[in-house]
Amino acid sequence: MSAQAPIRRITAPQIRARKGGEPIVSLTSYHAHTAAIVDRYADFILVGDSLGMVMHGMESTVGVTLDMMITHGKAVVRGTKRALIVVDMPFGTYEESPQVAFRNAARIMTETMCQAVKLEGGARMAETIRYLVDRGIPVMAHIGLTPQSTNVMGGFKTQGRDQATWQHHINDAVAVAEAGAFAVVVEGVVEPLAQEITKAIEIPTIGIGASAECDGQILVLEDMLGLNPGKPPKFVKVYGQLGGLIEAAVKDYAEEVKSRAFPSEEQTYR
Ligand code: KIV
Repeated sequence: MSAQAPIRRITAPQIRARKGGEPIVSLTSYHAHTAAIVDRYADFILVGDSLGMVMHGMESTVGVTLDMMITHGKAVVRGTKRALIVVDMPFGTYEESPQVAFRNAARIMTETMCQAVKLEGGARMAETIRYLVDRGIPVMAHIGLTPQSTNVMGGFKTQGRDQATWQHHINDAVAVAEAGAFAVVVEGVVEPLAQEITKAIEIPTIGIGASAECDGQILVLEDMLGLNPGKPPKFVKVYGQLGGLIEAAVKDYAEEVKSRAFPSEEQTYR
């Protein structure tokens, strides 16, 4: 009898090698058991700082801490075997210097055992990306609409509506690719700009609200499952309405408890 080959995790270089090939599938996940389901279909799973909003009810990602990212990162790594796990560096943990970024990224890697980190910013973060990659930490970059900077940007605004701004975003993409990022999330940019960015660099672009012109796509799991308590962004396709299913189940349970229909004899320890 032959032993089954162990399942190997997808690696950062394997994601990088998918440039221009089969589209890369990715989702966020913050919970061991849902991550186990996502793991069967996604090439990488992002433990993103959007968890501040969709798990903790925060208004933005700005208040998310390193400890929150590490707690959810550990859960997702425990629940998965196959997908590459990328954990976001939260606001305030990497911008100050490459050395501070390394210390915090190393904490994320050693405490969660994830395989890569993601950070926001283009050309201004190139030196930090190079510093981390040279020291053994695979980095996914994130450009275009960068949610940690919404206080400066004045909200969640689609980028690239004015063609005069395109070169700035393309320069960001080139800078992070040259600095050694293995892939780059391109968020909230108009389709022709997404196309220009994807053409300009040799690493995969992962789009969110950035059209089909990217090498892969990512969505926030709660958004695509109908679990966003607010209105999900316009570009999100809701593939399942779990909010309604959860409400119906909780309502049935509450009614049965109140009418003493639950627990019945079968549901009681004897
Ligand atoms: O935190 C997050 O969910 C993200 C995605 C928007 C890519 O960074």
